[in-house]
Amino acid sequence: MRTSVLLVVLTVFGLSFVKYGITDSATFVGSEACAECHEKEFLNYSKYSKKAHSSTSIKIMSSDLDQDEVEECYACHATGYGKPGGFVSFEETPHLADAGCEVCHGPGSLHAEDGDPDLIKAKMDIADCETCHNAARVENFNFKPLIYGGAH
Ligand code: HEC
Ligand code: HEC
Ligand code: HEC
Ligand code: HEC
Repeated sequence: MRTSVLLVVLTVFGLSFVKYGITDSATFVGSEACAECHEKEFLNYSKYSKKAHSSTSIKIMSSDLDQDEVEECYACHATGYGKPGGFVSFEETPHLADAGCEVCHGPGSLHAEDGDPDLIKAKMDIADCETCHNAARVENFNFKPLIYGGAH
């Protein structure tokens, strides 16, 4: 009896922690950290997603850009730039240099510890894409068919 009451309390609290953003304290770990448990997604992403090479897009243009301009690219072409535990520089945080799993799924450190599905964002909507993709272009690629961005 006691145990089941406790379980109910834990479940209810557990869910509201997620709602009120316990995952806000998570930091970015990079796509390779997801690979050991999500091999299929990781291989698809590495092979088919343009995001997996998004740092190359900066590097090929960087000789024409000054440092401030290059830094403007990071918000979209790298993972978590300007956010806790996010991309800092190619030297310091090479594992976050591309736009990885976590640009869509959010910072994954807590989830990656033991795979608790409540500690990772699994549902997305169009607004999540529009932080980097312009609205017209999201409409153009019709959102749904390309929602995985080649990552799955
Ligand atoms: C943090 C920024 C960011 C977010 C958020 C983001 N993307 Fe992307 N996405 C990129 C970048 C950068 C590229 C281009 C990489 C390159 O070519 O250098 C890209 C590429 C793509 C492509 C390939 C485009 C093409 O023409 O082949 C698709 C499709 C895509 N994203 C879909 C999505 C969807 C759907 C979402 C939302 C669920 C999303 N992205 C969220 C940054 C982002
Ligand atoms: C607001 C987010 C954002 C910023 C800032 C940004 N990009 Fe992008 N970039 C994207 C997205 C999204 C795509 C993919 C467009 C698509 O196909 O829908 C892209 C595509 C590209 C591509 C084309 C890649 C290809 O395979 O065709 C290059 C090159 C590129 N960006 C370079 C840069 C550089 C250099 C900077 C900094 C000066 C920069 N971008 C800043 C979001 C951004
Ligand atoms: C462009 C955005 C985007 C990127 C990048 C992305 N995902 Fe996803 N992921 C999604 C969407 C959208 C869903 C499905 C949400 C839904 O069911 O509505 C999803 C679902 C999942 C699921 C649940 C099972 C499933 O397939 O529905 C797993 C596991 C997952 N992603 C892992 C990963 C991993 C690991 C990476 C990096 C290697 C990654 N994702 C990169 C958008 C993305
Ligand atoms: C230690 C193993 C492990 C690691 C590392 C891991 N995951 Fe998971 N992940 C799991 C397990 C287990 C599930 C639950 C699978 C199920 O319920 O079918 C899961 C589920 C998910 C889901 C679906 C959640 C839902 O509510 O359906 C997503 C999205 C996801 N993982 C993304 C990621 C991303 C992104 C990373 C890297 C930042 C990552 N995972 C790292 C084990 C892991």
